[in-house]
Amino acid sequence: MAKIYIPYGTVEGQTAHIVEYIADVVRANGHQAETADLKHSPGPFPGGYDGVIVAASVHVGKHEGYVADFVKKNRAELERLPSALVSVSMAAHGDEQTAEGYVEKFEQDTGWRPAHIGLFAGAVLYTHYGFIKKHVMKKIASDKGSPDTDTSRDYVYTEWDGVRRFTEDFLARFAEPPAQS
Ligand SMILES: Cc1cc2nc3c(=O)[nH]c(=O)nc-3n(C[C@H](O)[C@H](O)[C@H](O)COP(=O)(O)O)c2cc1C
Repeated sequence: MAKIYIPYGTVEGQTAHIVEYIADVVRANGHQAETADLKHSPGPFPGGYDGVIVAASVHVGKHEGYVADFVKKNRAELERLPSALVSVSMAAHGDEQTAEGYVEKFEQDTGWRPAHIGLFAGAVLYTHYGFIKKHVMKKIASDKGSPDTDTSRDYVYTEWDGVRRFTEDFLARFAEPPAQS
């Protein structure tokens, strides 16, 4: 059984949902998972973990600065352990090149080049946004020709099966060898 640490950043909460889903998949595969919202617990990297999945979301072209700070501070540990980055953005919904560009920027900023990267689409949560954010996001959607401009509802683009497969691929290295008979 492996212990997986999942520190993350989120602004509107979709990355927190994705992280909880990842933690559920980790547990369903017989391992332990602990999540940490870095905005509220940016403390040092706790010991005793076998792997780590860092998750962050993109706003105005960048991942959360406090996640980048955490990665810079704990780079040695992230390089020592099997580790992965989960990047949540709207670009991951059909504009892979832009989504990859955000990760490239994050890698340049932090110096960490994770071996495993998951690019997942987030959500447009109109009903949770304040007045300005709602109208900015509606304008971005309509400028892109997206039909998803009804601000009385939310649009979730995350493909949960992809999140599950990514997590299971990451966990494959921790699988117990079959018992000898
Ligand atoms: C104000 C704002 C700015 C955003 N900027 C970008 C952006 O530059 N690129 C992108 O791909 N997605 C962008 N998004 C989409 C977010 O990445 C998406 O809503 C994601 O689900 C947010 O994750 P979170 O809920 O964990 O914060 C933006 C969303 C908001 C609300």
